[in-house]
Amino acid sequence: MHQPLTFTSAELDANAHDIFRRYRPVTPLLMRDDGIYVAIRAGDVQRLFTDPRTRQMETEIAQVRGVTDGPLLEFLQHTMVLSNGMAHRQRRLPLVQAFASRFIHELRPHVRAIAEGLIDACQGAGSMDFIQDFASWLPAHVICRILGIPDSDIPGFTRSVYSLSRAFSSTFARGEVPAMQQAAGELKAYVESLVAERRRHPREDFISAFVAACDASGTLSHAEEVAQLMTILLAGSDTTRSALAIQTSLLLQHPEQWRAVCRDPGLVPGAVLECLRYEPAVASVPRVTLEDIVLDGTVLPGGRILSLSTLSALRDPALYADPDRLDIRRADPPRRHPVFGGGVHRCLGEALAKVELEEALAALARRLPHLALDGDPVRVEGGFGIRTVRGLRVRWDRTRT
Ligand code: HEM
Repeated sequence: MHQPLTFTSAELDANAHDIFRRYRPVTPLLMRDDGIYVAIRAGDVQRLFTDPRTRQMETEIAQVRGVTDGPLLEFLQHTMVLSNGMAHRQRRLPLVQAFASRFIHELRPHVRAIAEGLIDACQGAGSMDFIQDFASWLPAHVICRILGIPDSDIPGFTRSVYSLSRAFSSTFARGEVPAMQQAAGELKAYVESLVAERRRHPREDFISAFVAACDASGTLSHAEEVAQLMTILLAGSDTTRSALAIQTSLLLQHPEQWRAVCRDPGLVPGAVLECLRYEPAVASVPRVTLEDIVLDGTVLPGGRILSLSTLSALRDPALYADPDRLDIRRADPPRRHPVFGGGVHRCLGEALAKVELEEALAALARRLPHLALDGDPVRVEGGFGIRTVRGLRVRWDRTRT
């Protein structure tokens, strides 16, 4: 039996693709210096999503990082993301219908109008800070529309969301905990005020219906009710923001593929899937092993935290031909895109994320076909969990749009 090779979290965060590319042919598992095992082969990642010898991680990492109380722990203990069995089913069920594909597809025209409105607002300027002026706003506007909250709340809740989303990356440091506690407290207070207001004055909106359904069924505690809405705000605004910035940067870094999308809007869905594959906004999902699991001669011991690296799986030549090449016409995408995870925790917002990414790309290609990078490509930080994006300026010729 082999022992997995160990890397520091900093090394993996900085060079994830290089390290995984080098070691995938050699070993199925790497180890992080914090004792977390990392599965890096596509076949293993896909099997382990649903392997009964694993379960979803709960608050294990948080406890190790010294999160023993406060609103952050309360959120992590009650979100559907980090729960198992009956608790997970009860937390997810009241939200499933609202995020089902058929309902989300009805939102397409609104998402398109939001994307076009954001472009209109800065079209005359000839350049923009893509993350600040576009990618941060689009998913936040859409989630406001779904939940029934005013757009004027966006700056307040997104500030908390961007800080709290680090909680879903297994590499957050102890030093980040105070800011995350504060963000969890602020987001909780905001969501509690929404819930209390809808209970007093129900409206024709999602939160009123959710609160009424929870009250009628009695299956969710108040803390669970609040944590699911916090989860939707968080998952609904941060992941797609990163994915929007990454997809725009990647296509502008490959101008021939950008021009192809501008010429043929039929290429948009394939381009979205390919950008999610090539540089995913979510890089891994956490699990806990319940017993020893042997992977190609290497023991993954029971009772350990395991990171399933979707980032590595998405570049595995066993799943994709020539995986280090961005190719929007790729003919071999698997039916269920691994970037959205697998098993009972598979992304609830998959349909929504795709609609947002497709409508944004189509609007940019239609309205700003001469779009170009205005400086460096986007910086994507982190090799685990939700990744952070920084610094993407784009420009266009105002006279040619
Ligand atoms: C590009 C965008 C997105 C990516 C790559 C992504 C990826 C993922 C992944 C990998 C998981 C599984 C986590 C696990 O197994 O531990 C997940 C779960 C989840 N996602 Fe997404 N997501 C995206 C956008 C969204 C959006 C827009 C929403 C909006 C509602 C959303 C809501 C959720 C929720 C609620 C869960 C938890 C599901 C559960 O535990 O049952 N996601 N997502």
